[in-house]
Amino acid sequence: MLKKEDAESILKKYNQEHLLKFYDELSEDEKKSLLEQIENIDFQLVKDLYDLTKTEVDFSNQKLEPMDYIDESKLKDEEIEKYKKIGEEIIKNNQLAVVTMAGGQGTRLGHNGPKGTYDLGLESHKSIFELLCDNLKRAKEKYGVNVPWYIMTSKENDKDTKDFFESKNYFNYGKENIKFFKQGELPMISEEGKILLSEKGKIKEAADGHGGVFEALYKNHMYEDMKSKNIKMIFISGVDNVLAKLVDPVFIGITIANNKESAGKSVVKAYAEEKVGVYCKKNDKIGIIEYSEITPEMAAVKDESGEFLYGESNILCNLFDIKVLERISVHKLPYHIAHKKANYIDENGNEIIAEKPNAYKFESFMFDAFEGLENMLLLRVKREDEFAPVKNKDGVDSPETARNLYNNYWKK
Ligand code: UD1
Repeated sequence: MLKKEDAESILKKYNQEHLLKFYDELSEDEKKSLLEQIENIDFQLVKDLYDLTKTEVDFSNQKLEPMDYIDESKLKDEEIEKYKKIGEEIIKNNQLAVVTMAGGQGTRLGHNGPKGTYDLGLESHKSIFELLCDNLKRAKEKYGVNVPWYIMTSKENDKDTKDFFESKNYFNYGKENIKFFKQGELPMISEEGKILLSEKGKIKEAADGHGGVFEALYKNHMYEDMKSKNIKMIFISGVDNVLAKLVDPVFIGITIANNKESAGKSVVKAYAEEKVGVYCKKNDKIGIIEYSEITPEMAAVKDESGEFLYGESNILCNLFDIKVLERISVHKLPYHIAHKKANYIDENGNEIIAEKPNAYKFESFMFDAFEGLENMLLLRVKREDEFAPVKNKDGVDSPETARNLYNNYWKK
């Protein structure tokens, strides 16, 4: 392990000496864990990321175009049947795996704990994780197989997530069918580029975005596990959509029948400013332009039929051939900067409670990896059937809206 003197010289080089300011006050365990944190941080990367906060992102040299899609509601019954059959073969042969990205904290939701543990307030009082697991249980009933479920956690919520599953007896889906793996983290920094302390002996780190999913699957030997199970297709989605169809034979079938190595689902954007990313082509490559990055003009422009030109909203539901995932997991993805509120310990040892954004957090996005894909099928699905996001405490995309969407779907 790193010695204090070595840590000092690293920190000096990167102007981060304040991190050891309270070292002498710490217990032996705290000293050890702080040195361990320092050892694992890539200080050059942190410095580069800070420099990035000072540069404007320029999209002017990017050629952006809308992306082609297939509208599921316009498919003929016989087409649907054909695709369904192909997809069902994959499922029945136990060649499908499901990955849920649940590394984020439910900060915006105001929930103290992993987002998936949130009780949506349905009559059943099921948590989001249980509602997602219901998909797998229905598939088991229908096809007689256990679809393996891989859940991405972060250092922050790994223990709480696992404890929750244990306390719920894995929703009777079988502990052996559920695996957890951790994503990476990065330190948070002040507006002056100083790494923050969350405690005197602890560096403030945060999950580094869901872009880490591919690398995390690889580093945690999940691909090996999938291969040993003969998995062919992998469905990946976020934790916060309670209508996500984790096992969808038509989606699998249409991807395979069209010889595509990957696929995504979209819903039509509800209104120009909706906080969703939209699928597009960036310099002829598959991509998503985020709501924080699109210009208001581009977000509002419509085509001749009156639909948004950039209206195929990303609902974070993607399907990949396992071969592709391995290929793209070696690519380093860019980091995006988020200006956030962060409480921290200042140089005098006082806790500072943030009233407004005061720090930077860095995240990579899984869809930045799409540009490394040779092809992707985009399937437009019905919003009311497949998209019920739980993001905010109240208002849009809140537990209340998601609950209504969920209840309406199941009434239907
Ligand atoms: C996201 C998408 C947006 C999409 C919208 C649909 C991003 C950057 N944008 O926006 O294109 O239209 O959802 O609802 O994702 N997560 C992790 N680890 C992390 C960060 C996030 O596992 O480090 C997971 C979260 O638990 C969640 C999902 O990724 O399941 C989405 O993250 P979130 O930050 O809520 O994205 P949005 O800004 O809502």
